[in-house]
Amino acid sequence: MIATDFHTTGSGNPRTDLLEVKLEILYQVSQVLSRSLNMQETLSKVLKLLHDKGRLRHGMVSLLNEETNELQVIALHGHASSLIETVRYRSGEGVIGDIMNQAEPVVVPRIADEPRFLGRLGVYDANLPFIGVPIRLGKNEPFGVFAAQPAESEELLNEQARFLEMIANLIAQTVHLSRQIAHEKRELREERDHLRRTVKGKHGFDTIVGHTEVMHNVFDQIRQVARWTTTVLIRGESGTGKELIANAIHYNSPRANGPFIKLNCAALPDNLLESELFGHEKGAFTGAVTQRKGRFEQADGGTLFLDEVGELSPAFQAKLLRVLQEGEFERVGGSKTLRVDTRMIAATNRNLEADVKKGEFREDLYYRLNVMPITMPALRQRSEDIPDLTRFLMKKIARQQHRELIITDSAIRLLLRHDWPGNVRELENTLERAAIMSEGGNIDRDSICLAGLDEQCLITPSPISKTQIDFNDPNLDERERVIAALEEAGWVQAKAARLLDMTPRQIAYRIQTLNIRMRLI
Ligand SMILES: Nc1ncnc2c1ncn2[C@@H]1O[C@H](COP(=O)(O)OP(=O)(O)OP(=O)(O)O)[C@@H](O)[C@H]1O
Ligand SMILES: [Mg+2]
Repeated sequence: MIATDFHTTGSGNPRTDLLEVKLEILYQVSQVLSRSLNMQETLSKVLKLLHDKGRLRHGMVSLLNEETNELQVIALHGHASSLIETVRYRSGEGVIGDIMNQAEPVVVPRIADEPRFLGRLGVYDANLPFIGVPIRLGKNEPFGVFAAQPAESEELLNEQARFLEMIANLIAQTVHLSRQIAHEKRELREERDHLRRTVKGKHGFDTIVGHTEVMHNVFDQIRQVARWTTTVLIRGESGTGKELIANAIHYNSPRANGPFIKLNCAALPDNLLESELFGHEKGAFTGAVTQRKGRFEQADGGTLFLDEVGELSPAFQAKLLRVLQEGEFERVGGSKTLRVDTRMIAATNRNLEADVKKGEFREDLYYRLNVMPITMPALRQRSEDIPDLTRFLMKKIARQQHRELIITDSAIRLLLRHDWPGNVRELENTLERAAIMSEGGNIDRDSICLAGLDEQCLITPSPISKTQIDFNDPNLDERERVIAALEEAGWVQAKAARLLDMTPRQIAYRIQTLNIRMRLI
């Protein structure tokens, strides 16, 4: 009979008693294994349990390292992990390697008599038996070996081996689960890092087109403010790229790995805005079934972008002021005061100074927000950027439409003559429309339809467009050359003819044969 330290039931039948003891040990092992997925710690506890209660000495678990394809000792009873970390077995090497290779248990009555025994661990008792079993899921390939030295008489060794197999089975389930979870975690982490890199790439400086001096100033300002946590106010007409700039500041700041949370202040009524921004406690109002973090809290460690901040009601302006001044707030329906480390970027297309004068925007909030203003120029103030912006946006649209798009110079010249009240967004929309309208993906001036185009929109040719037209440019084909001259001449045929050294009859003939649609101004 096995003399365990564990209580025996005393049934009088040694086999029945042994079975009960082992069942109890199995139960306890399964409990230890289910408690934590830290394999080293859990397996050490299992081995201790087997030592203390099952009289299994020098318990050892080694698992296959998938990268090196070697068995690595994970836990050895009574020895610190640092001592065993260096011990490895290749498949087929020594007794342990053989168990792995053959996927069969090995039972040795006295280890000193076993020629395959390598004694690498240097802990085994030479006179005790040795049992090693593979760790595997069902009949699958083993991925580890569990071994121990029972302090038993020889006759019961095979039963002991059966018992070790049961334990190895439990270990296999847990190791498999923990490896699966580790694998999923790794995949999620990789995906997160990949997404972070993509998002960062999308909001780098090279996604903001602008070679004009005003834009260079904007870039300098972004670089400077990005390093600090100062509140930034981005101003500018609609469609000038305020949100783009807010993103660039965040993703070029030390908070780039933190969250970038956006809230449009104009999109919600005050009561919803409050719970959206500050969060709410469970039961704070009908429908608040669970506690919810607000955007301020979500942006902890990152940046909160408050778009259209000029549209806030006076009551809400006061609430926002408090957070800006004291960095504190409470969730709706909550009494606990919360503090977060959130950087604030606000944007507006309103003339806040005028609103302050009219009493529609709090002066104190205005000063709090206006610490570091960045003003985005209107597109008409930087029309030199239109050709580059157009090409950049064309590429963006081409990617979205999965096809190649080409825009002609004459189309770009037409774009240069518009004054773009809707700024870059209007330009982007115009190009997208033109792309949709052009079957072959070749965007000519005829495919471009300027929304709301009227006399006011068509400005007199700017000095840039003038200097950019070179009628002798060998890259211009005949059609483009004629169109360029017509544009230059404000679509007066006789004038254009003079520019091209043609007679009015010649140009009229070309307009007809080249199928040029005359623009009425
Ligand atoms: N300098 C730029 N380079 C490239 N794309 C730009 C640039 N400026 C703006 N865009 C593009 O134009 C569109 C409008 O930009 P954005 O949404 O940032 O403008 P906004 O100022 O926030 O407009 P609104 O005031 O209407 O909200 C976006 O698709 C943006 O990517
Ligand atoms: Mg915007």
